[in-house]
Formats: sequence, structure tokens, C-alpha cells
Amino acid sequence: MYISNLVTYAYAILSVFITPVFALTDIEHSVLQKRFDSYYANNNTKDNVVVRGITVGGWLVTEPYITPSLYHYATQMMSNQTHNTTLYNVFNSSIIDEYTLCKALGYDNAKGLLEEHFQTWITESDFEQIASDGFNLVRIPIGYWAWKQNHTTNEYVDGISFEDPYVGEGLQLYYLNQAIGWAEKYGLNVWIDLHGAPGSQNGFDNSGQRNFYDDLGWLSDYSTTNLTMAVWSTMFDSFLNSSDAIVGIEVMNEPLSSKIDIKNITQAYYNAFELFQDKEDPEKNVTFIIHDAFEGNGYWNLEFNPRYRNVSDQYQNTQDLNKTYYDSQQIMIDHHHYEVFTDWQLANNQFNRLMDIINFGESIKKELPYHPAVVGEWSGAITDCATWLNGVGVGSRYDGSYYNTTRYSTDDLPVGKCYSQNPIGQWNETYKRDVRQFIEAQLATYDAQTTGWIFWNWKTEDAYEWDYTQLKAAGLFPSPLTNFTYFGNDGKLNSDVSMSLSREAYPVTSSSSSSSNSSLSASSSKKSKNMGSGPLFNHSTNDKSIWSLKSTTWLSNVTVLLLSVVIAAHIL
Ligand SMILES: *[C@@H]1O[C@H](CO)[C@@H](O)[C@H](O)[C@H]1NC(C)=O
Ligand SMILES: *[C@@H]1O[C@H](CO)[C@@H](O)[C@H](O)[C@H]1NC(C)=O
Ligand SMILES: *[C@@H]1O[C@H](CO)[C@@H](O)[C@H](O)[C@H]1NC(C)=O
Ligand SMILES: *[C@@H]1O[C@H](CO)[C@@H](O)[C@H](O)[C@H]1NC(C)=O
Ligand SMILES: *[C@@H]1O[C@H](CO)[C@@H](O)[C@H](O)[C@H]1NC(C)=O
Ligand SMILES: *[C@@H]1O[C@H](CO)[C@@H](O)[C@H](O)[C@H]1NC(C)=O
Ligand SMILES: *[C@@H]1O[C@H](CO)[C@@H](O)[C@H](O)[C@H]1NC(C)=O
Ligand SMILES: *[C@@H]1O[C@H](CO)[C@@H](O)[C@H](O)[C@H]1NC(C)=O
Ligand SMILES: *[C@@H]1O[C@H](CO)[C@@H](O)[C@H](O)[C@H]1NC(C)=O
Ligand SMILES: *[C@@H]1O[C@H](CO)[C@@H](O)[C@H](O)[C@H]1NC(C)=O
Ligand SMILES: *[C@@H]1O[C@H](CO)[C@@H](O)[C@H](O)[C@H]1NC(C)=O
Ligand SMILES: *[C@@H]1O[C@H](CO)[C@@H](O)[C@H](O)[C@H]1NC(C)=O
Repeated sequence: MYISNLVTYAYAILSVFITPVFALTDIEHSVLQKRFDSYYANNNTKDNVVVRGITVGGWLVTEPYITPSLYHYATQMMSNQTHNTTLYNVFNSSIIDEYTLCKALGYDNAKGLLEEHFQTWITESDFEQIASDGFNLVRIPIGYWAWKQNHTTNEYVDGISFEDPYVGEGLQLYYLNQAIGWAEKYGLNVWIDLHGAPGSQNGFDNSGQRNFYDDLGWLSDYSTTNLTMAVWSTMFDSFLNSSDAIVGIEVMNEPLSSKIDIKNITQAYYNAFELFQDKEDPEKNVTFIIHDAFEGNGYWNLEFNPRYRNVSDQYQNTQDLNKTYYDSQQIMIDHHHYEVFTDWQLANNQFNRLMDIINFGESIKKELPYHPAVVGEWSGAITDCATWLNGVGVGSRYDGSYYNTTRYSTDDLPVGKCYSQNPIGQWNETYKRDVRQFIEAQLATYDAQTTGWIFWNWKTEDAYEWDYTQLKAAGLFPSPLTNFTYFGNDGKLNSDVSMSLSREAYPVTSSSSSSSNSSLSASSSKKSKNMGSGPLFNHSTNDKSIWSLKSTTWLSNVTVLLLSVVIAAHIL
């Protein structure tokens, strides 16, 4: 090995750990552009429609960081109530999630406040705008408590009794049904997403109930398991066969397999699937969607897959053989991808961050012969600085304040000072460019390599990196959705640099060599496996065909392969 190589390696390795270099160098940009060119070379994003969706998060399930004003107001109400001695509903804690909000205010006050929020936060004009901006799908989160029948008797559907402070009694369902009507009107597809489970499936505040440190309730006993089954059953009765706008039901958002045994989660998924099969009208083609439960890509390949019945047998209760004949392409896997919830991701420079996206897209592509797979949540965030993103009163990993406000600790130094919680107008040009590049990289990758994508989130009050409407207004989100500035099919490659793909052009020495190798093996195994596996979802409203997979996608561009070989050869 030459000394100069060693110097290059040392620089490359150190540059990852020294202060983050945000901006791409010209050479890095050229290297990335080559990767994106492979997507366009196959012309696979032009004539095939994939899922291009948006979530209306923070609406029927509230989230403090999306609408902090709602939570500030509730806290003020609570404080006023606490000083009102005629009230006995005194709550000796702070409001940190929808559960504590309802508990602190009491049913009627909470209902009044939430109803006003449901009425105003998302309206028909949002759906009209979503359609005219070119999205083809809206993902709508809802909590299990929407199926509470009577708060006095704690009665849920199917006569199940379960005690919690949430508001229900048809309130959220009224707004959900209204939204489905808007979707029909504007030609949008809808996927309903059960975002909060009894007892909480992850302990995040977006499940309704924040619980960082203790055991979770979901599936820990019959009370939460049985209620979940009853909610699924009623949900399927109401929404599987009711509207052509509804193309999918996600049975549980983000169950956390590091806290709930994956076997319990998998069993619950199979139970849900059997109910789903009982109730679905095959003509409607509604897709059964499962979140990956934070397992790695590929984990679910052999589950819900009649070709590997030895895998599913242990979970399947059914004696009905007919139910074991289904097409694995009817089950969709939902992956969520963010780059801001670990110290190491936050410390990434821009090049590594975008390479992460490319590699992530490649690994999802390998799942497609087994199941369609989407990136059902992603954002423009490159820091975790948005106020309350990690929870009410919880700081950011980026500046280290997370570790001062939680029981967690780290040996990593803070990456920098928080800045992106300020309005986009105050961001510097470098940061704006990095966010735009990050968004483009995800759009291009997920369009080309997956069944589609759903951005999180349609809007927020002041979490700018997570807010489509404000990112778009500031020119940081492509509009139309394929109008790229940095990584389009007419990306302006600097040919001098791109032709001399030297070692310097590839600063992430170790990981780039392995990713080149994996892209090689991926493409060779891909061909044989995928040819002929056709498209599988043809749900349509207005003749729009979505979730159809493309046979051309499987052909990896030879140029890119050669490039990978060249790079790998240089590095090894
Ligand atoms: C690969 O892409 C290049 C342009 O980047 C194009 O000229 C070539 O025809 C493509 N090859 C295949 C096999 O698609
Ligand atoms: C891409 O596909 C469309 C529709 O099939 C076709 O009209 C167009 O010419 C193709 N573009 C390229 C560059 O092959
Ligand atoms: C709380 O009480 C103060 C003083 O009476 C009043 O100005 C404020 O509007 C009240 N806030 C809420 C949310 O009820
Ligand atoms: C105390 O709360 C009761 C019940 O909500 C309300 O009728 C009353 O006006 C409140 N009193 C004050 C002083 O705010
Ligand atoms: C809930 O049950 C109570 C007691 O049976 C009854 O008075 C009330 O009307 C019920 N509420 C609803 C919304 O059905
Ligand atoms: C899994 O489910 C069983 C009962 O079905 C329960 O005893 C166990 O506690 C559950 N495990 C977890 C981690 O929730
Ligand atoms: C839950 O359902 C099971 C199976 O139907 C039943 O045996 C059990 O009694 C139920 N448990 C509760 C707490 O409802
Ligand atoms: C299985 O499917 C066949 C053919 O569609 C049908 O005749 C039969 O009744 C089904 N069996 C059950 C148990 O549903
Ligand atoms: C976290 O706490 C440490 C020790 O008290 C302090 O030095 C540091 O400034 C705090 N960081 C933030 C971002 O608040
Ligand atoms: C731009 O803002 C980022 C994020 O705060 C900061 O790390 C960077 O140093 C700033 N760059 C310039 C050129 O001011
Ligand atoms: C694409 O975006 C640029 C700004 O980035 C804008 O000037 C242009 O009008 C857009 N193209 C279309 C077709 O809207
Ligand atoms: C469901 O799929 C079948 C077969 O692909 C198709 O004939 C039918 O029109 C689809 N139904 C809807 C509502 O899209």
C-alpha cells in the first residue's frame, strides 16, 4: 500500500469524526450524480406511478411538536383548573402527550379542545392542495381510542371494557369519514394507519402515551390484545369495503421490537391478517400493510409468504386452507427512515448522509420480489433540533441537551449548536442547500428503488424540517415533485471530475467498498429472481394505477456496475 493511499484513508476516516462538513465537494457531487443517473437511465420513474404520498400527522392523533400551541393552551387550561377549587379533577403532573392532556383536562374540556383542533388543523382545502401538488395518496393516522363507545362506562367496541382518559365516542371517526370523502372528491388514495395501540406500542408520544423507561402495555396481557383485535375487526368492517379511495390499512404504526417481543408482534400481525381476509372483498384490492417493527430490511421477506409456509405455520391459526392461498404481493411492508435519531447519523457529513439513502434504497429493492415495500415516513430533517421533537421538555441529541433532559447518556460529543428550529428564513444558504439535496436524494431514490414513499409531514406549526408546506414555500421541496435542482436526470456533471474518479472522490473508504460490492451482488441475484413477477396492485381511482412494480427496475445499469467495479478496485 502506498503512503499516499494511507494519507487519503486517514483523511477520509478522520473527516467523518471531525466537525461535520455539510456541503458536498464537486467531486462528491459527481460521484452521487452517477448513482442517481442509474435511476433515470432505466426511465423507470417516468411512466410508472409509484406511491407518492403525504401524511396528515398531528391531526386525529395529536403530537406536541407538530402543534405546540395546542399543548401550551392545554397546559394553561390545566393550570387555571388547578387554581379553581371547585374542580376536583386535579392532575399533578405535566401534559406531555394526548393521554395526559385528556387526563389533566377531563373528558368534556379535552373533547372541546380536540374537536376544535380536528375541525381546523386539516380541512378540505388541504386535500385539494395535496392533490394539486401531485401527491397520489394521503396517510391518515388514528388512535385505537377512536373506537371508544362510552367514556362513562369505559366501553369500547364489541362490549370490551378498557379504562383510559382519551376522548372518543365517534369524534375522530366523523372527521376520518369526512376526509375520505374529500379524498374521493380530489382523486386521492387513502391509507388508514392505526397509530396508537392500547398500552402503547412504542412509548413515543405519537402513540398517544409517552413512556420512555417502563415496560409497554401493548400485547403484554389479554386486555390490550383483545381490545386491539376488537378495534381491528370493527375497523375492517367499516373501511375495507366502503370506499374505493381506501387502498390500504396499516394495522400498527411502529411497534417497537426492542421492547415488545417480536414474536408477540408477529402473532398479532397474523391475527390481524386473518381477520382482514375474513372481511375483505377481493374486488376492492385493499392492501394489508405492516410496519417493519424496526427490524432490518429483508426481515419480513418470508413472513406472509405462502411460498415459505414453514415460516408462517407457527403463527397461523386458521384451519381454512383457502386462507393460506394468497399472493405475498398483497402484503406491503412499511419502512420509516430518518437520519436524526442516533448520534452517529447526526454526525454524518452530507456525502455519507446521501450515500445512506442510496444504500437504504438498494436494500429495499431487494425486498420487492417478496413484498411491495414503501418508505412510509421520511422527512427533510438533518438535525433533531425541532422543538419538542423528542418529546415535551426533552432536548436534542445534536446539541447534547437530550442527555441533560433524559436518563440516557452518551460518550459522543455534541455535533453542534441547534439552529434549524428557527424559521427557514434564518437558515444559512449551506444548510438550506443540504436540506434540499437530502430531500431530492430521497425522492429520486425511493421513486426508483421502492414501491413508493410518504413524506412526514404535510404541515406543522414550527417544525420546519418536517413540514412539507413550509419547505415547499421556501423552495426546499421540489415542485412539481420531480423538479430536481441537484440530482435530476439532467444533473450537471462536471465531466472533468467525474471522469477522474480518483480515490479522493470516495471519502468513505470502508463503507463505500462494501456498498459497491453489495450493489454488484444485488444486481446479479436480482435479475433471475425478479423477472416475471408482475405488478400486483392495481387499485385505482380515476384510472390511477399505483403500487405497480416495474420490470425494468430490475435491470441495473451496466455503466453503474462498471463504475462500482472501478471504485472497488481503487479502494481494495
Ligand atoms: C446506462 O446508462 C447510460 C447513461 O447513463 C446509457 O447510455 C446506457 O444505455 C444505459 N445502459 C443500460 C443497459 O440501460
Ligand atoms: C421514457 O418513457 C416514456 C414513456 O414510455 C417515453 O415516452 C420516453 O421517450 C422515455 N424516455 C427515455 C429517455 O427513454
Ligand atoms: C387562564 O386564566 C387566565 C386568567 O384568568 C385567562 O386570561 C386565560 O385565558 C385562561 N386560559 C385558558 C386556556 O383558559
Ligand atoms: C371553576 O370551574 C367551574 C367548572 O368548570 C366553572 O363553572 C367556574 O366558572 C370556574 N371558576 C372560576 C373562578 O374560574
Ligand atoms: C354512556 O353510558 C351512560 C350510563 O349507562 C349513559 O347514561 C350515557 O348516555 C352513555 N353515553 C353514550 C355516549 O352513549
Ligand atoms: C408476549 O405475550 C405473552 C402472552 O401471550 C406474554 O406473557 C408476554 O409477556 C408477552 N411478551 C412481551 C414482551 O410483551
Ligand atoms: C380475551 O380473549 C380470549 C380469547 O377469546 C378470552 O379467552 C379471554 O377471556 C379474553 N380476556 C379478556 C381479559 O377479555
Ligand atoms: C375454498 O375455496 C373454494 C373455491 O373458491 C370454495 O368452493 C370453498 O367453499 C372454500 N372453502 C372454504 C372453507 O371457505
Ligand atoms: C448539559 O449539561 C452539561 C453539564 O451540566 C452542561 O455543561 C451543558 O452545557 C448542557 N448542555 C446543554 C445543551 O444544555
Ligand atoms: C450554517 O448553519 C449550520 C447549522 O447551524 C452550521 O453548522 C454552519 O456552520 C453554518 N454555515 C455557515 C457557512 O455559516
Ligand atoms: C422547477 O423549479 C424551479 C425552481 O427550482 C422553477 O423555477 C420552475 O418553474 C419549476 N418547473 C416547473 C415546471 O414548475
Ligand atoms: C381489483 O383488482 C382486479 C384484478 O386486478 C381488477 O379487475 C379490479 O378492477 C380491481 N378493483 C378495484 C376497485 O380497483
